[in-house]
Amino acid sequence: MSEPTATTSAPGVDQPDASWVHVAEMKDLARRKRKQVDVAGCPIALFLVDDEVFAIDDICIHQERSLSKGTLLNGQVICPGHQWKFDPRTGQPEDQDGCQATYAVQVTEEGAILVAPEPVTPRQATTNESSTHPVGR
Ligand code: FES
Repeated sequence: MSEPTATTSAPGVDQPDASWVHVAEMKDLARRKRKQVDVAGCPIALFLVDDEVFAIDDICIHQERSLSKGTLLNGQVICPGHQWKFDPRTGQPEDQDGCQATYAVQVTEEGAILVAPEPVTPRQATTNESSTHPVGR
């Protein structure tokens, strides 16, 4: 694996000692703009927004649906469970509390996507347990 040479998204991050994990290639995000990957046993969702790659917890803080199976619309991730909208840059849901964990991402000149295994911002549970539009899992 080559050394990362370009950072596409690393909100507030400087982790020179992190053990970056090679999780995917840019071409893997070209069509659907989203992909679930595994980093140290954690399912993480990658999203391509405005040519930048963002990584957040794949498991929704609300009722654990997979955000990578959701919809990416106008730079927001819409969860397939109950349509909460998340900002993939910050992991924060719109009009809800709690937060998806976010992870630092680097993309090499060759297009390899690397993710740091430790979150930049931690997962914060929501206090909203409601399910207004139940959807089977
Ligand atoms: S499971 Fe994601 S919004 Fe309910």
